[in-house]
Amino acid sequence: MPERRIDPDDGSAYTFEELSAYYQGKFKKKAIEAYWENECKPTKKGKADAKPKAKVKAKVKAKAPKKNPFGDLKMNRDQIKQAKERVYNFSAGPSTLPLEVLLEAQNDMLSYQGTGMGVMEMSHRGKTFVAIATQAEKDLRDLLNVPATHKVFFMQGGATLMFAGVPMNMIGDSSSTADYLITGQWGEKAHKECKKYGKANEACNTKPTKFTTIPPKSEWKLTSGAKYVHYCYNETVNGVEWSAIPDVEAPLVADMSSNFMSRNIHADKHAFIYAGIQKNLGPAGMAIGIADEKVLGKSIPMCPSYMDWKGCVDAESMLNTPACYTWYMMGVYLKYTKEKGGLSYWDELADKKSRLLYDAIDNSNGFYTAPVAKDCRSRMTVPFQILGGNEELEKKFLKEAEKVKLFTLAGHRSVGGCRAAIYNGMPVKGVETLTSFMKSFAEENPQ
Ligand SMILES: Cc1ncc(COP(=O)(O)O)c(C=O)c1O
Repeated sequence: MPERRIDPDDGSAYTFEELSAYYQGKFKKKAIEAYWENECKPTKKGKADAKPKAKVKAKVKAKAPKKNPFGDLKMNRDQIKQAKERVYNFSAGPSTLPLEVLLEAQNDMLSYQGTGMGVMEMSHRGKTFVAIATQAEKDLRDLLNVPATHKVFFMQGGATLMFAGVPMNMIGDSSSTADYLITGQWGEKAHKECKKYGKANEACNTKPTKFTTIPPKSEWKLTSGAKYVHYCYNETVNGVEWSAIPDVEAPLVADMSSNFMSRNIHADKHAFIYAGIQKNLGPAGMAIGIADEKVLGKSIPMCPSYMDWKGCVDAESMLNTPACYTWYMMGVYLKYTKEKGGLSYWDELADKKSRLLYDAIDNSNGFYTAPVAKDCRSRMTVPFQILGGNEELEKKFLKEAEKVKLFTLAGHRSVGGCRAAIYNGMPVKGVETLTSFMKSFAEENPQ
C-alpha cells in the first residue's frame, strides 16, 4: 500500500499522488516534492488515518488545482486569502514590506527553526538570536559594501536619536562648528539638535524654495575646520534626493533613512551614515549606524552611555536589550535582497517605479504637478499636487483611490497635497495601478 503522510495544511493523510494532484498548478513539482519530504509527517501505522478514506478521494477531487495568484510562493489557504486582502500601501514609514518577507516571518512566528519559541520570545544573549543578529550584520555589510574601516551598529530610538547623537559624538566641544546642508524638514531638525552642543552652521537652507531644490556647491557656505558636514540623502517629506554624494573636505555625515538600501551608499566617502529601517528594510524600532572607526571614542562628557557610539560598537549593539524582533525582520529582508541579486535589484526597481510615476505626472497636461526641481526629484517619496493644490479634488482623489486598493497617499500634514512613497516593498504593479488610476481620475475630472 502506498505510503500516506499528514498534510499540515489540513491535518489529513494523503498519498504522494493525491497530494500532487491537489497541489498541481499551485506549486512546481520540485516544491511539492520538498513539501512532501520536509513538511508532511508519515502517519503512524495502525492509525485510522493510515487507511485511505473514500472521503479523501472526494476531497482530492473537490480540491481541483487552483493557481496560486502569488506564483511560486509556498502559501496555505489562509495566507492566500490574507494576501489577496492586502492593499497598495504608499505610507512613508512604517511602510509596506515585500510579501515574501512577511510570509517568512509568519512561518517562523510560533517556533523559529525548531527551537520551540518565536524570535520575539528569545533571549538576546542566546545562541540562536546572536546567530540571527550576526548574520544580519554580515549581510548588511556585504550588500552595502561597507569597508573594514567602518563599524556597523544598531540602536533603538530611530533616526531621531541618531541625529541627536551626531553632535554628541562628533562636535567635540561647544566652540566647534558643524555645517548642515538643509534641503528639507529632517535636515532642519537635525540642525536644530546640533545647536544644543555647538555651533550649527546652515551651509545652505532651501526653505525659501519650500524645500524643492538643491543648490550647487558654489552656493554653499561651508566653514573651514568644520567638525563635520551633515546632509539628508533623501528628504522624505519634501521628496528631494541628492543625485550625487556631496563633495566636501570635512567628515561627511548622512541621514539615509528614506533611501537606504535603494542605491550605493558610498560608505567610504562618509564618516558616519545613519538610517531608520522602517522604510526600506523592515519594521520600525531600530536605526543603523555606520561609522568610520576614526569617529569613535570622541563623545562629549555629557553624552549618555547609551548614545556613545563607541560603547554601542564595543557591546556589539547589545548594551541594553536590542529591538530583537526588528533586527530579525531586517535579517529576513536582507536575505531576501541577496536572493534577488543584491542592491542593484532595488536600485533598478526604484528607477523603473519612479520613472513610471513622474511620467504620469509630467504627461498629465498640468493636471498633476510635482513641486520638486527635476534634478533632485526623489526616487522614493514622490509628492504631487492636483491642479496646483486643489484641496477638494485632492480629497476626492484620496477617497476614490482607496476603491482600487491605493492607500495612504495623502501628503505630509505640513505640506498637504499627495505623496506616494514607493519604497522597496512597493511592487511595480502597485505603481502601475496608481498611474492608471491617476490617468482615469484626470479624465473623469476635466477642468
Ligand atoms: C529622512 C528621515 N530622517 C529621520 C527620520 C526620523 O526617523 P524616526 O522616526 O525613526 O526617528 C525620518 C522619519 O520619517 C526620516 O524620513
